[in-house]
Amino acid sequence: MRRISVLALAAVLVGCTAGGPPAANLSASAANGLKLAQSNGCASCHGSDFGGGTGPTWQGIIGTTVAFKGGESTVVDRAYLIESIKYPDKRKHVGYSVVMPTNNLTDAEVSDIVDYIEALSQ
Ligand code: HEC
Repeated sequence: MRRISVLALAAVLVGCTAGGPPAANLSASAANGLKLAQSNGCASCHGSDFGGGTGPTWQGIIGTTVAFKGGESTVVDRAYLIESIKYPDKRKHVGYSVVMPTNNLTDAEVSDIVDYIEALSQ
């Protein structure tokens, strides 16, 4: 079921010409998170539709397992996403050599972006 909804979302995204996911159906906080992600340069690495690029995809990542250099791994949840945005250089993904830049987002802004990333997994 989950896989089907991710595919359906991907199909919607491919058909979207605005360069980002449809803002309709997002909660107010997630819609604000989308705006913040676009205005803070996140899309330049995570993709115009946040399907990945220099950085990992945001689509469907909740519940997936991420492997780190050094052998550890974690399952992606809200706490991990918040940590990743607040402390980008804390843990290094296998397969990514670029270091994500730090940002000046407030806790509330990070929370809204995470609401948006969670919406991409629904
Ligand atoms: C210069 C490219 C770049 C920019 C700009 C960037 N990121 Fe990243 N991001 C990465 C890379 C590369 C990783 C993989 C983490 C690592 O190995 O250090 C990452 C990881 C993440 C993760 C964890 C995802 C996962 O699968 O582990 C989140 C969440 C994230 N970024 C959010 C953001 C947000 C929010 C912004 C904007 C404020 C942003 N990123 C801007 C490159 C970038």
